[in-house]
Amino acid sequence: MRISILGTGNMGDALGTQWARAGHELTVAGRDMDKAAALARRLGPAARAGTWAEAAAFGDVVLLAVRDHGIPAVLEAVGAADGALRGRVLIDCTNPVVPGAFTLVEPHSSSMAARIAQRAVGAHVIKAFNLCHADVWRMTPPLFHGRPLSVPLCGDDRDALSTVSSLVSDLGCVPVLGGGLERAGLLESTAAFMMGLWINAGADAQAVLPPLEFAMGEPGGLNDRP
Ligand SMILES: NC(=O)c1ccc[n+]([C@@H]2O[C@H](COP(=O)([O-])OP(=O)(O)OC[C@H]3O[C@@H](n4cnc5c(N)ncnc54)[C@H](OP(=O)(O)O)[C@@H]3O)[C@@H](O)[C@H]2O)c1
Repeated sequence: MRISILGTGNMGDALGTQWARAGHELTVAGRDMDKAAALARRLGPAARAGTWAEAAAFGDVVLLAVRDHGIPAVLEAVGAADGALRGRVLIDCTNPVVPGAFTLVEPHSSSMAARIAQRAVGAHVIKAFNLCHADVWRMTPPLFHGRPLSVPLCGDDRDALSTVSSLVSDLGCVPVLGGGLERAGLLESTAAFMMGLWINAGADAQAVLPPLEFAMGEPGGLNDRP
């Protein structure tokens, strides 16, 4: 697959490393060409650095991996409003979260994923990879207590969901369909809430949820009887 990475930070590096290992071709773009070239070198011979426009033209899949405040400028630079990403799978891994407060940056507006979809005319936006730290995405594979990590995806296009599912599988993770793009805001809120638990409360976010067999009540309990 041909994958473009917009952004030269931790997420572009972590996911790009995994996808290069899996045999995909990559083009990396960032606002600092030296950083883009350095990341492309780290990713190996299947990767090269390019301008925003070259990256937009290259990838069947485009990973948007920049800080939330930089998203409008980056989408403008790639020509997203003019349809430069039309028909592409656009992965949104961003977390529009206020550092320290762990609230959403724009709590009363639509999700960041929906706003990206509005700006990227004709692109198939999939929200994914926002729930875990970049270091988790570097693990080969991310396996905790013997259980592979599940990765929820929200998006509307069936083929795009299938493409991103295969990129999730490349990491040794399990894709989980979380519904349409209208549910992406729930993923963004989940990230904000979990970060608050991890960082402010020092709590294990996994411990706040029951296992699946208890999700609808106690198995065999009062609510489980016909
Ligand atoms: N790191 C994580 O563990 C993690 C996990 C899940 C989701 N995310 C989300 O993934 C996205 C990328 O995170 P990251 O950790 O890769 O961030 P990062 O290491 O700080 O890199 C951010 C990237 O965004 C670029 N950028 C920042 N402001 C910009 C602007 N105004 N215009 C254009 N580009 C700009 C940076 O360019 P320069 O290098 O030139 O500054 C850099 O390429 C964020 O939205 C974050 O919320 C991060």
